[in-house]
Amino acid sequence: MKNVVFIGAGSHADAVYAVMNKSNYQLIGYFDDKNITTHDGFPVLGKIADAKEYILKNGVPGVFVTIGDNDKRKEVFDNLCPELYSRFINIISPVATILNSESISGKGIFIGTNSFLGAKTVVEDNSIINTGSIIEHHTRVGKHVNIAPHTTINGICHIHDLVYVGSSSVIIQVKEICAGSVIGAGAVVVKDILEKGTYVGVPARKLGV
Ligand SMILES: CC(C)(COP(=O)(O)OP(=O)(O)OC[C@H]1O[C@@H](n2cnc3c(N)ncnc32)[C@H](O)[C@@H]1OP(=O)(O)O)[C@@H](O)C(=O)NCCC(=O)NCCS
Repeated sequence: MKNVVFIGAGSHADAVYAVMNKSNYQLIGYFDDKNITTHDGFPVLGKIADAKEYILKNGVPGVFVTIGDNDKRKEVFDNLCPELYSRFINIISPVATILNSESISGKGIFIGTNSFLGAKTVVEDNSIINTGSIIEHHTRVGKHVNIAPHTTINGICHIHDLVYVGSSSVIIQVKEICAGSVIGAGAVVVKDILEKGTYVGVPARKLGV
């Protein structure tokens, strides 16, 4: 068993823990900025800013950022790197289907229950592919991305860094979504999204235009 700390003690942490619990990693505690001393029966070892020192001092071999919000997850991940990059683990559901092991091309990646990564798909650092999402062949998912449950991203798409894709949305093949954009739940993206914004509906259109 390899000891791991989680950064972030909220609902996303519970979802990640439920998947990790079936693996060889052992959670030893959380870091969180709320005034709490335990979460889900595990100790809160300090504030998020304390995590790096604790991990280095105590030789903790594994770390994972369990924060759903992309910007916050990026901030915490970047603050722990580069010193701790090699200690980031990937948490991959044993019932996810990943056709090529090279698809997991970074660290701090979460692949949820019943997700699917097709041929030559790539997922980069600190990204979340949540429950039951399909990321089809030759698609690239950048860093600090969050793909919510039951999403379908068809082949040869490029999802840039910090994109949030809402639940049950569909992105048709050979499309690009620019960095930091948000796709609403249930949207169908049929054109490249090249201007950062929030897009909803069928077909997806920019909110507030
Ligand atoms: C798109 C989203 C981010 C917008 O949130 P927001 O900026 O707070 O927007 P609001 O709730 O103020 O809604 C603004 C308008 O967009 C509409 N809207 C919001 N989400 C929509 C969606 N998914 N599809 C279609 N219309 C949507 C609202 O009805 C509202 O329309 P109105 O101005 O005509 O009343 C959010 O609604 C969403 O879909 N989030 C994804 C949720 C999800 O998948 N969660 C998974 C958790 S694991």
